[in-house]
Amino acid sequence: MDVVVLVSGRGSNLRAICSAIDAGTCDAEIVGVVSDRKNAAALEFAEARGVPTRVVSLRKSDDRDRWNELLAQEVAQLHPELIVLAGFMRVLGRPLLDRFPGRIINVHPALLPSFPGHDGPRDALAGGVRVSGCTVHIVDAGVDTGPIIAQAAVPVLADDTAETLHARIQIQEHRLLPGVIHQIAIGAITLAPLRVRTVVSDPTRSLTVPDA
Ligand code: GRF
Repeated sequence: MDVVVLVSGRGSNLRAICSAIDAGTCDAEIVGVVSDRKNAAALEFAEARGVPTRVVSLRKSDDRDRWNELLAQEVAQLHPELIVLAGFMRVLGRPLLDRFPGRIINVHPALLPSFPGHDGPRDALAGGVRVSGCTVHIVDAGVDTGPIIAQAAVPVLADDTAETLHARIQIQEHRLLPGVIHQIAIGAITLAPLRVRTVVSDPTRSLTVPDA
């Protein structure tokens, strides 16, 4: 399955997907990496791997509709079967959503629908929850509002900072996201309409499709 990954930053999830592909546990190929930031470390990693990269920057003064059009054009030129938002810090507009209905997923560092937005770990700490985690969901026009595909939980510890909690959550992201991509690739998860036959809620278990 041909996948385009959208990134804004570090790209540890991109690396995790690539590691799973290399290990033969994720039946996908990354056909492009697209960023809204030209200095995203994820781009360097993609280039070193020989993956085509594109940058579609958005400055404060830019026309957002135009940016959404350009983003959709750049992504479409890569002909993805699935688009994965892995640390892409922008809300998608209609051009991309309409061109790829039900074919865009995102990973978020909290157990949605709790703590959407740009700082899930900090918000979870402020909310006083004892358990947090990560969510992979279908992207719609809202902020982290689309249908939930899979989640993994982690404990929140008494001395956690947003950084230590995020680091614990990312360990689960790096397992959950490539697993979900693989399950989509083999047809165990369908996105439109969403149908999940996968056991994912227990982080101590591997991702498996239960026997029918
Ligand atoms: C991840 O925690 C993801 O959930 C959130 O942004 C972060 C990206 O991390 N959307 P990385 O760039 O993949 O390391």
